[in-house]
Amino acid sequence: MRIFHTVSGLREVLKACRLKGLRIGFVPTMGNLHEGHLALVEQARSSCDIVVCSIFVNALQFGLNEDWDKYPRTYQVDCDKLRDSGCDYLFHPEDTEMYPNGLDTQSRVICPSMTDVLCGASRPGHFEGVTTVVTKLFNIVQPDEAIFGIKDYQQLAVIRRMVEDLCMPMQITAAPIHREADGLAMSSRNTYITADERPNVVVLKESLEWIAEQIKTGARNFTELETMAIQRIADAGFKTDYITVSNSKTLDPAAEDDLEITILGAIFTRAARLIDNLSINLD
Ligand code: PAF
Repeated sequence: MRIFHTVSGLREVLKACRLKGLRIGFVPTMGNLHEGHLALVEQARSSCDIVVCSIFVNALQFGLNEDWDKYPRTYQVDCDKLRDSGCDYLFHPEDTEMYPNGLDTQSRVICPSMTDVLCGASRPGHFEGVTTVVTKLFNIVQPDEAIFGIKDYQQLAVIRRMVEDLCMPMQITAAPIHREADGLAMSSRNTYITADERPNVVVLKESLEWIAEQIKTGARNFTELETMAIQRIADAGFKTDYITVSNSKTLDPAAEDDLEITILGAIFTRAARLIDNLSINLD
C-alpha cells in the first residue's frame, strides 16, 4: 500500500491508473477503522481494480462543542488494517493540505434537502461539512465508484442526492451495517461508551426492530410507535435524540401508504451519540 499526504502525489499516480483504463474505487473514512470500514474496502476490492482509501478527520463537519479534538486517531493501526485488507493507495492529508485557505473562507457545497432534519437538526452545519469534504475528496480521487456504509443512512442519502444534483460522474454503492455480536452497529464512537452502559445500548437497535415489527403487522400510527420506543429507550437509561419513521428516499416523516420505510434513531449515552437505522419494504 502506498501512502500519500499531498493532493498532487495521489493525483499523479491515479492519472496513470486512469490512462490504463483501471476502475478506481474509493472509501473515504475518518480513521479509527473497524470491521465495518474494512468491509467497505472489501466491497471496493470486489468491483474495482484500484482501491483508494482516505483518512481525514474533517473539522468542517464537527460542531463547536463536538468531539473533533478527542476523535480517536489511530493512524498506525489503521494503516496495518488497510494494508491487510487490500487497499492500494491511502490518502492521509494534513488539515492544511485539505484546507489551504483555512476553514472560514472555504467554498462550501450545500445540499438544501434532507440536511436539517434528524442528525442535521442536532448537528447544524454537519452535512455541509460532509458534502464539502466529500466533494473535495471526489475531485481529488475522481473515482469510478465510492462506497459508503448504510449505518450513516442520512449521510448516504444526502451524498446520493448531491451526486445526482451535481452530475458527479461516479457510482455510489451502499454497504450493509456491520454489527457487534449483540447487534450494536459498529462505529468509531463506540469507544466512548462506558462499561456500565455497554450492555444496554442495544436498546436502540431493538427499539427500531420493534417498530418495524409493529408496522409489518399493520400499525400505522407512527407517532405513537415513536413515543413508545422513546419510553423504552428511557427505561434502559438513555436520552433519545430522535426516533423517526421516515420515507426511505426523502427522509420526510413516512405517510401511511408509503411502501419503502426507514426507521432511524439516535440516542445519547454519557459521552457518545449513537445512531442506527432499519429499512423495510411493505410491497
Ligand atoms: O462517514 C465518515 O466517516 C465521514 O463523514 C466521511 C464520509 C469520511 C467524510 O468526512
